[in-house]
Amino acid sequence: MNAPLIDPFARAISYLRVSVTDRCDFRCVYCMSENMTFLPKKNLLTLEELDRMCSAFIRLGVRKLRITGGEPLVRREIMTFFNQIGRHLESGALDELTLTTNGSQLAKYAADLYAAGVRRVNVSLDTLDAAKFAEITRWGRLPQVLRGIDAALAAGLKVKINTVALKGFNEDELFTLADWCAQQGMDLTFIEVMPMGDIGNEDRIGQYWSLTDLRAELEKRFTLVDLPDRTGGPARYVQIKETGQRIGFITPLSHNFCESCNRVRITCTGEIYTCLGQEGHSDLREPLRSSESDAVLEDAIRAAIALKPKGHDFDYSRQQVDGQVSRHMSHTGG
Ligand code: GTP
Ligand code: 5AD
Ligand code: SF4
Repeated sequence: MNAPLIDPFARAISYLRVSVTDRCDFRCVYCMSENMTFLPKKNLLTLEELDRMCSAFIRLGVRKLRITGGEPLVRREIMTFFNQIGRHLESGALDELTLTTNGSQLAKYAADLYAAGVRRVNVSLDTLDAAKFAEITRWGRLPQVLRGIDAALAAGLKVKINTVALKGFNEDELFTLADWCAQQGMDLTFIEVMPMGDIGNEDRIGQYWSLTDLRAELEKRFTLVDLPDRTGGPARYVQIKETGQRIGFITPLSHNFCESCNRVRITCTGEIYTCLGQEGHSDLREPLRSSESDAVLEDAIRAAIALKPKGHDFDYSRQQVDGQVSRHMSHTGG
């Protein structure tokens, strides 16, 4: 039995997020610039290499695997990867195989994902207004995403909606979004906007809607009951007493949750980022490719985890953006 992955701050790493592509069919304004340069496809880990990488982490104690992008479902042949990695669910080595998606391809893939062992998907959706949706994603089409969500629910997948809370953009939709999710039995998680990516003139401080304030808005209408951690992710959940609906809050700015961090990220080129909010990373592609022995890769993984920092430095409290990271969110999939 391998020793578990423990970082320098005594946090056990049990959650791996793997980006399978940096590409996306949308260009959410807080995530990407309009003219993104994407990596040459030859730089990407192959599907076999992604499998080997994930399997190494699973041997080292990872129990939850989340596939991200960019948009993971635009990666060619991605279902081959899901079908193969699903074997770790069957063997009991993995508790959960899941993904975070913009929903655009879900109508096509929902049933296949379920068949591969996926039971839950997180779908990013910031507004239910088609014109606003086209504005925030630059050219996304809302009906396509709604069809994807319907298909996911029909396939038996649990759906959680991720909404980036944006001042002046979706403040007016707080209750509409909550009602819509409640009607379909979907959890809803709000995320504070983080200063990532060199994306021009986005006004982070102007956009920032603290979830402390958002929660206070909800409390004007509902009684909120705190729930214990449910998914091993960063969200803190409440239940609305009146409707039973669960709402999650991801609060990197207003309430840092780094102390209980259990996750690391792999990019589509095989880099490991041990903190979303720091620039530091190590290369795992070279150890992966240099030897057929997994021992070399496992040693490199342990060495990277030994460098995991305490947390991010994002901070808007001085009315300026501190802790900005130049990497785009799509590079590490959130
Ligand atoms: P669940 O399994 O449903 O709990 O999902 P999750 O919250 O772990 O994953 P998801 O991809 O839905 O994450 C939503 C967003 O939370 C990400 O896109 C990030 O913006 C943010 N997030 C996730 N993990 C971290 C983290 O470690 N640090 C920070 N600052 N933000 C994170
Ligand atoms: N701040 C917070 N969340 C972000 N996301 C993308 N960019 C940012 C940002 N700058 C979210 C997306 C999606 C997930 C992949 O990350 O909305 O839910
Ligand atoms: Fe694509 Fe997601 Fe980034 Fe939007 S947030 S551009 S959907 S990767």
